[in-house]
Amino acid sequence: MKGVVIGGEVGAIIAREKPGEKIELGELLISDNSSSKILLQVYDLSYGSQFSQQDRELMSGIHMEDSDTDFFEKEHRSYVLAKMKSLLTIRQSGSSQTVSSTKDLPDFFSSLREVCVDDLGFLNSSNNSLFLGNVRSGSKVLDVPVRLDGRSVLSHHILVTGTTGRGKSVFLSTLLWEIVKNDWCGVLVLDPHDEYIGRVRVGLKDHPRSEKIFYYTSDSSFPGCRSLKICISVLKPGHFDGIVEWSSAQEDCINAYYRRNPSGWIEDIIMEVPLSDSRFHESTVAVVKRRILNILNLSISNNNIVGSGIFDVVHGEGTVRDIVNILRNGCIVLVDTSRIGGRTELLLGSIVSNEILKSSKIFGEKNISILIEEAPRVLGIDVLERGSNIFATIAREGRKFGVGLIAVTQLPSLIPRSILANMNTKIILGTEMKPERTAIIESASQDLSSDDRAIASLDKGEAIITTNFSRFAIPVKFPSFEEHVLRDKSEKIQKRLFGS
Ligand SMILES: Nc1ncnc2c1ncn2[C@@H]1O[C@H](COP(=O)(O)OP(=O)(O)O)[C@@H](O)[C@H]1O
Ligand SMILES: [Mg+2]
Repeated sequence: MKGVVIGGEVGAIIAREKPGEKIELGELLISDNSSSKILLQVYDLSYGSQFSQQDRELMSGIHMEDSDTDFFEKEHRSYVLAKMKSLLTIRQSGSSQTVSSTKDLPDFFSSLREVCVDDLGFLNSSNNSLFLGNVRSGSKVLDVPVRLDGRSVLSHHILVTGTTGRGKSVFLSTLLWEIVKNDWCGVLVLDPHDEYIGRVRVGLKDHPRSEKIFYYTSDSSFPGCRSLKICISVLKPGHFDGIVEWSSAQEDCINAYYRRNPSGWIEDIIMEVPLSDSRFHESTVAVVKRRILNILNLSISNNNIVGSGIFDVVHGEGTVRDIVNILRNGCIVLVDTSRIGGRTELLLGSIVSNEILKSSKIFGEKNISILIEEAPRVLGIDVLERGSNIFATIAREGRKFGVGLIAVTQLPSLIPRSILANMNTKIILGTEMKPERTAIIESASQDLSSDDRAIASLDKGEAIITTNFSRFAIPVKFPSFEEHVLRDKSEKIQKRLFGS
């Protein structure tokens, strides 16, 4: 027994802690009734005492002077009070469980116990295919895997948020590792820290199905990698939306060149090939040319266009098409963007994402997700005020075609509410800053208004998952990636040796 219900109201049930027990913030407790049980979660702790403040001050003073004197009935008269909210009512019939939202209060003076594995069997339903972590009760980790319906979760977008260093990348490594095991989802990963392949440590290259991982990088020394080159002939004006801001005259100029020569418009601008109707001021063309050279990292040498970044005049004509095909086959494309600038990374993301959405509108038989770090770079309020872009389009309508975002940020408050609300699964890791917690709590799928303190105090790898695909906001602990890979591999070997 951990404590006894002694009062309160719906959403703020109060229990007294049993002497000698320690109830933690975020802990899950069970109140058993004859026909059902209520799952409760602690969200606040305080002291209670029957002594007046004055008496307590006096007694502690005497106690400090003379350590022989003891407090009068210390454990009985002073205690800890826990404030709890009910998460669910669980009804057990035989071996099956049904869950519903709680509409009543636990019995007065009923005792509370720790949650155990059997209480949470309902989390293990068969269509829940995607492992995310283990259920956590306070800081204790239970042997209950949290699995959700992967196809729905991924197509309805995921937001991963938390202060730097709280475990976003570790969680994402595990998530990608799990997605590779399934064949219904391709993921495009724009990886600005080049951390998911595992160049020096364990990474996706070590996956038993590593043939499903395609690694694009401009450092060709990595075994089996693909060269990151994109031919400028595949670029379209729309690819620059939200990444580069053009004046309206510049935009008109670009569109005119594109209309005249859809696969050679960039070359034409750079070479200053005159348009037949020269509506445009020479200086406009010159500015557009200069900006394009700069953005695409191109230069002119001996009257030839030379690329010194990922964009090229000759090579890489099939790169985008190949990437989209790989994704449509349910594989993972890791793009090492650590060697290219942030804007080039976003432009590359925009080019591929445009083609993904276009292809999924036609075929759409598989899920495709796009993982993007520092998401406010493309989904920020200030960015979207200047004009929409493909990432915002996908956030709004991608799910109809199975295209989802996995947006990572430590600053969710910079993303407009309408887009946050569209991200139907939020992985909330420890968040120190109050405005960030507020933005996330206000757009969560469940009522997290009492979890502000719990979110602030989440440790590395601890999280709360709030999603439309679960009945309650699930407290979880993510494994460390190395630990997960080791356990996964040893389970596989055991299965092979001893059968399942
Ligand atoms: N689930 C976890 N279990 C144990 N340690 C973790 C876990 N997640 C993160 N860490 C530790 O925290 C460090 C930072 O994690 P990381 O995922 O890089 O944070 P972020 O991407 O949020 O900045 C890791 O190097 C690791 O040491
Ligand atoms: Mg990170």
